[in-house]
Amino acid sequence: MLPVVGPSKRNPFLPVYQPDLSGNERAYLMEAFDSTWISSRGEFLDRFEAAIASRIEIPYVSAVCNGTAALHLALHCLDLQPGEEVIVPSFTYIASVNTIVQAGAVPVFAEVRAEDWLLDPEDVRRRVTSRTRAIMAVHLYGLPCDMDRLSAIAEEFGCTLIEDCAEALGAKWRGRHVGGFGRVSAWSFFGNKTVTTGEGGLVATTDPALHRRMAIVKGQGMDPDRRYWHVELGFNYRMTNIAAAIGLAQLERLDDILRRKRTIAAQYRTALSQSGVSFQSATAAVESSEWLVTLLLPEGADRDAVMQRMLQEGIETRPVFYCAHNMPPHLRQSLSLPISESIAARGVSLPSYPTLSLEDVLRVCASLTGALQRA
Ligand SMILES: Cc1ncc(COP(=O)(O)O)c(C=O)c1O
Repeated sequence: MLPVVGPSKRNPFLPVYQPDLSGNERAYLMEAFDSTWISSRGEFLDRFEAAIASRIEIPYVSAVCNGTAALHLALHCLDLQPGEEVIVPSFTYIASVNTIVQAGAVPVFAEVRAEDWLLDPEDVRRRVTSRTRAIMAVHLYGLPCDMDRLSAIAEEFGCTLIEDCAEALGAKWRGRHVGGFGRVSAWSFFGNKTVTTGEGGLVATTDPALHRRMAIVKGQGMDPDRRYWHVELGFNYRMTNIAAAIGLAQLERLDDILRRKRTIAAQYRTALSQSGVSFQSATAAVESSEWLVTLLLPEGADRDAVMQRMLQEGIETRPVFYCAHNMPPHLRQSLSLPISESIAARGVSLPSYPTLSLEDVLRVCASLTGALQRA
């Protein structure tokens, strides 16, 4: 067994995430600052949008203030009517679900697949009704959903496919970047995301009319050709030039960041192969961004005790998301989604940031293995 070592000067506290800001982040940030263009206009916004559009290979993108705003903006601009339904996994971050309600529609919770923890196309099909307007694919923990089957179902029933790509920058389905399969996709650049702008987000679409509308709505609904003339109800969801400056520097290093994250994920899988934990399993069609290394503890293990023991040894972990249908704002008492519920009860995310060394990974694995033996 690997030796367990607690936090010390040599073995410092390992958080679940910390961004690597060691490239041009500081220089661009200061450039934005010195230019005095610190709000939502400035050259870094244009450069950031151009760089990310080319990276994800989606022609129309619009930077916003966070990923939740991105989802809300996208859903709002689909003009969902009261009573219309959006099928969404219950096992997701709460913003995927909240924004459906905030856009005036009803979330319909679907099951995920045991093997990859992602939206189950067969269950989606079962839940389609005459009121279904959209399906939201959430590429959770950086692993792409089955976009062949979800696209086919959306087409068959005439619904809009939306992609929540908050965790999936760098992820590919059959060699193509996620985000361009649906009509619109939403992204997050929160501090723990693969690329961060501090707080930040993005909407991306292949539809120029939808793009134009989202760009107007994110800026208070103002007519782009007539200042202070508001053509529709809007929000202030704009990103700042300061945030975009950091994001541009981060994007320059995206390949390195992804390479590091994939290496770290592979190291964890190897080191924990005999420990009884299980990971999301990927098919040959997908390339995960390995956003956050997440695993399921064996059935019956006491998750809180494991996490507490690891914390005592200076290692932060985090539980996976609770199922939305079990939480007060979206409670569906009679709904049973056993796979989602089991994953939600057993999942734990481990430190997964790009500067984590092999030594750190082995220390996390030793701590986890020891905690599992005692839990
Ligand atoms: C799946 C998913 N959707 C949406 C969001 C919302 O993004 P943000 O935190 O930038 O508002 C997140 C962020 O954690 C997420 O993980």
